[in-house]
Amino acid sequence: MAQQPPEAPGVRSRRFWSLRPRSDRDAGDAITSNFLLHAMPAKVSNASMAWTYSFWLGTITAALFLLLVLSGLPLLFLYVPSVERAYQSVKDIEYVVSFGKWLRAVHRVAAHGMVIAVVFHLARVFFTGAYKNGVGRNQHREWNWVIGVVLLLLTLFLSFTGYLLPWDQLAFWAVTVGTNIASAIPWVGPSVRELLIGGREIEQATLIRFYVLHIVVLPGAVAALFGYHMWRVRKDGGLARADREEQLETPRTVPPTPTKTYTLLGVARGTAPTVTAKTLIAADTTVNAVPDLVRRALIATLGTIALISILAVFIASPLEEPANPLITPNPAKAPWYFLWLQEIVTDTTIHLGSFTINGAFIGGVILPGLLIGVLTLWPWLDRSPREATGEWFHPARRTQNLVFIVVMVAILLLTYIGMEMRGPYWEFFWPWETWPSLPSRI
Ligand code: HEM
Repeated sequence: MAQQPPEAPGVRSRRFWSLRPRSDRDAGDAITSNFLLHAMPAKVSNASMAWTYSFWLGTITAALFLLLVLSGLPLLFLYVPSVERAYQSVKDIEYVVSFGKWLRAVHRVAAHGMVIAVVFHLARVFFTGAYKNGVGRNQHREWNWVIGVVLLLLTLFLSFTGYLLPWDQLAFWAVTVGTNIASAIPWVGPSVRELLIGGREIEQATLIRFYVLHIVVLPGAVAALFGYHMWRVRKDGGLARADREEQLETPRTVPPTPTKTYTLLGVARGTAPTVTAKTLIAADTTVNAVPDLVRRALIATLGTIALISILAVFIASPLEEPANPLITPNPAKAPWYFLWLQEIVTDTTIHLGSFTINGAFIGGVILPGLLIGVLTLWPWLDRSPREATGEWFHPARRTQNLVFIVVMVAILLLTYIGMEMRGPYWEFFWPWETWPSLPSRI
C-alpha cells in the first residue's frame, strides 16, 4: 500500500484548533477558523497577560456570569413563579430533586461571588488608571468605564431580583427593606417603588416582575453589554498595560546605511537619510493569542467554575419560613451588599426642631446618587498624565487612590456593622455580645 505523505506543518491544527500551534500562521488560523475564538486578536501584549496585572478579575466575573446561566437553566425547569407555589418548589429543589441542593448552592454562591468579583475588578481598573487613554488612536477607554458602571449596577440588580424568588421570610423582608429605600426619592419615590414592585404591596405582581427581570431582561442586558465591553477592549488596542509598554519604548535612531540610489544616468552610491523611529515592539513584546491568552482564559474560567462547584458542597443555602407579610423579622435586613446603605439610612435621620431630614433620602438617594455620579465621571475628573495609564498605584494618582481606599473601607466597615453588629430594633451590639431573642414584630 502506498504510504501517506506526512502532513504539512499546521494542517492538523487548522482543522481542529490546537493549543500547540506549530507556526505563527497556524496560531492565527486557530483564531480565525474557530467560532468561539474568532473575536480575539491574533496577538496580545505579553505584559498585559501577567496574572499580577489584571488578576484576570474581568474574566473571573464573566466566568461567574456563565456559571449563573448554566446553573440557572436547570433551576428554571423546577421553579414555579407563583406566591402559592414558589416556596414549595424551592423546598423541593432543596430536599427532593437529585443534586438540587448543590445546584441551588452553586447558583447562590456564584451570584454572591459575581458581586464581589465585579467590585474587585472595578478596584483593579481604578488602581491601574485603566480608564484613561494611552498612545493608541481612537481610544475611548472612558466609555468602557461607563459601560462598566452600568454592568456593576446591573449585577447588583440581577442579584437583588433573585433574592425574592424563594419567597421565604428572608427574601420577602430583604426586598421590602430594599425597595422601601426607593420611596425616599422626593416626589417620585412612591411611584418608583410601585413601578418596581407592581403595586403597593409585595405580592404576585412583584414576584412575576422580579422573575422576568431576573431570568430574561437583566441577564440579556449583561450579556449584550459584556459583548460591547469586550469589543471596546479590542478597539482600544487591548488592556491599558499594552499602551504603557509602547510609551516606555525609547526612540531609536536607525543608522544611515550605505545604499544605491538610482539616478537618471545610472546607479550612484550614497547613504539613505537618518531616521529616528520607535523600535517595532510587535516582534518582541507580543505573543500569539493561541495558545497564551486562550490557555490563561481557560485556566481562569475553569478554575472559577471548579472553585464555586466545590464551595457549593459546603455552603448551604438558607431557606426560612414561608414569606408572611404580617410577621416582620426583628431585625429585618437588606441583602448584604445594600447593608452599608441601610446603615447610613438609619444613622442619617436629622431632626432640626420640627423639621426632619429623612435618613432614607440621604442614605438611600443622595449618597448613592453622588457616589455613582462621581464614579461614572471619574475618567474625566482624573487629570493624571497619560504615562500613569496601565500602572498599579502610579505616584501621580496617589491622592485619588487614597480617597478610593478610604471610601471602600468605609463601605466595608458599614457592611460588617450591618451584618454582625445590628440586633433587634437595629440596636448596636459588639460582635462578642449576643442579641436578646425577641419575638418577631406582628
Ligand atoms: C459584569 C461585569 C463585568 C465583566 C464581566 C467585565 C469583564 C471584563 C474583562 C474580561 C476585561 C478584560 C480584562 C480583565 O480581565 O480584567 C475587562 C476590562 C475592563 N473593564 Fe470590565 N467587566 C465588568 C465590569 C466592569 C466595571 C464595573 C468596570 C468599571 C466601572 C469595568 C471597566 C473595565 C475597563 C476600563 C476595562 C479595560 C481595562 C484595561 O484596559 O486594563 N468593567 N472587563
